Amino acid sequence: MASERAVRGRLQRAGQEHLLRFCAELAPGPRAALLAELAELEPDALREHCRRAAAASARAPGPPPFPAARLRPLPPECVGSASRADPETRRRWEDEGFRQIALNKVAVLLLAGGQGTRLGVTYPKGMYRVGLPSQKTLYQLQAERIRRVEQLASERHGSPCTVPWYIMTSEFTLGPTAEFFKEHNFFRLDPANVVMFEQRLLPAVSFDGRVILERKDKVAMAPDGNGGLYQALADHQVLEDMARRGVELVHVYCVDNILVRLPDPVFLGFCVLQGADCGAKVVGKACPEEPVGVVCQVDGVPQVVEYSEISPQTASQRAPDGGLLYNAGNICNHFFTRGFLQTICREFEPLLEPHVAVKKVPYVDEEGNLVKPLKPNGIKMEKFVFDVFPFAKNFVAFEVPREEEFSPLKNADSAARDTPTTARRALLAQHYRWALRAGAHFLDVHGAQLPELPGLPETEDPPAICEISPLVSYSGEGLEMYLHEREFQSPLILDVDQARALLLQGS
Ligand code: UTP
Repeated sequence: MASERAVRGRLQRAGQEHLLRFCAELAPGPRAALLAELAELEPDALREHCRRAAAASARAPGPPPFPAARLRPLPPECVGSASRADPETRRRWEDEGFRQIALNKVAVLLLAGGQGTRLGVTYPKGMYRVGLPSQKTLYQLQAERIRRVEQLASERHGSPCTVPWYIMTSEFTLGPTAEFFKEHNFFRLDPANVVMFEQRLLPAVSFDGRVILERKDKVAMAPDGNGGLYQALADHQVLEDMARRGVELVHVYCVDNILVRLPDPVFLGFCVLQGADCGAKVVGKACPEEPVGVVCQVDGVPQVVEYSEISPQTASQRAPDGGLLYNAGNICNHFFTRGFLQTICREFEPLLEPHVAVKKVPYVDEEGNLVKPLKPNGIKMEKFVFDVFPFAKNFVAFEVPREEEFSPLKNADSAARDTPTTARRALLAQHYRWALRAGAHFLDVHGAQLPELPGLPETEDPPAICEISPLVSYSGEGLEMYLHEREFQSPLILDVDQARALLLQGS
């Protein structure tokens, strides 16, 4: 057990002795827990962490926008487009992606260590139900997409294949996620192919560089951002596990995009055929002011430029075709080769600069009272997964249609965007479009045909409820045999059993 004297010495070295100010009054259990937590903090790293946080808060509200002369859009030869490519090219990408999947060379990696504070739930976001008729959670949708892609790749290439699922969690999400997967029998995936690992935490720091105590016996800790991935890969020898399985290509994604295609053969095939070591899926920005990061070049090097780092004038600049010049919105959906990840972990991870997030951090005041601050009082330092783009030798971007691939769940329903309601509508609108495209007809209660999708899917419900299990169709493929020239009333829940029944009816 860590002795108070030893811990005090380490904290003095880091300039953080105040963390022991309630130690003497604690009962033995909480006291031991606090000392154990503090003993984990390496003094020199802690001193540097606090120095950086204080320096960053002095520079607040953040770095000024980049001068326009330093920015350039990505060169066209590095950008592919799912919707603008001709069908033959698209098919080539997809074939290549499926080939790699069938060769067992592809893994998916989920970033699920976030605390989901804006959504405001006390459990991991992946366990959230947005209110689909099937009541599926985000984790279940993702698991079923993996199973479907494995099935499609196996059918095409005539041999069974596996897409291992790596899940990065944090202290906040590991326990409940592991429990949830067990309770749901790993959604019928082989547990040996679901690998959970934990990212590190960092202390939250006040504006004057002092680590915050959340309780008398507990430091305020937060996950080190989704860019904590690289440290976590090294901590848990995840790349070695990939190497043992023969995985060469990794599709990394966020937990909260309900439309995420994983693994996406088209994206993977494009990246492989371009010889890329690192790639990002992007969507066209909705408007110049949309608060998303933009993938572009800074001084000739690929990077994500945050919306605060680009001036309104530059953000509104137009390309010759009339679209926005800086249009490539980052959706946290990335391609990496294992070799690239290895280079990052071995050489570049220490060079990644943490970003500063100014937050309201609950704390205990000098008198020992718990305080929930009403305005931001602390700093959390986070690395971002895309911070590694500048180290790529061959970086590519791949543009996909937003309505097909991106609808993030960030906020509670009281917000205007990125809520459970907008996520549910985006998925149901997509499935309604797929069904119509496959030749289904939807009728109202009087037997009259319902229309195609009016207006924006985010603001209106589709005319009929249609939910298609990912186990039946992953991206709208293969639906004609169930739906063509058939009439349905809302709701149509096309799961595996219903699909089987429709086939039987048709034969
Ligand atoms: P967000 O930046 O949206 O953060 O994460 P969040 O934690 O989910 O939500 P808020 O900001 O607290 O409301 C984008 C993705 O990165 C993951 C999240 O789980 C999500 O998939 N993430 C975020 C991590 O894996 N680790 C982190 O430390 C932070």
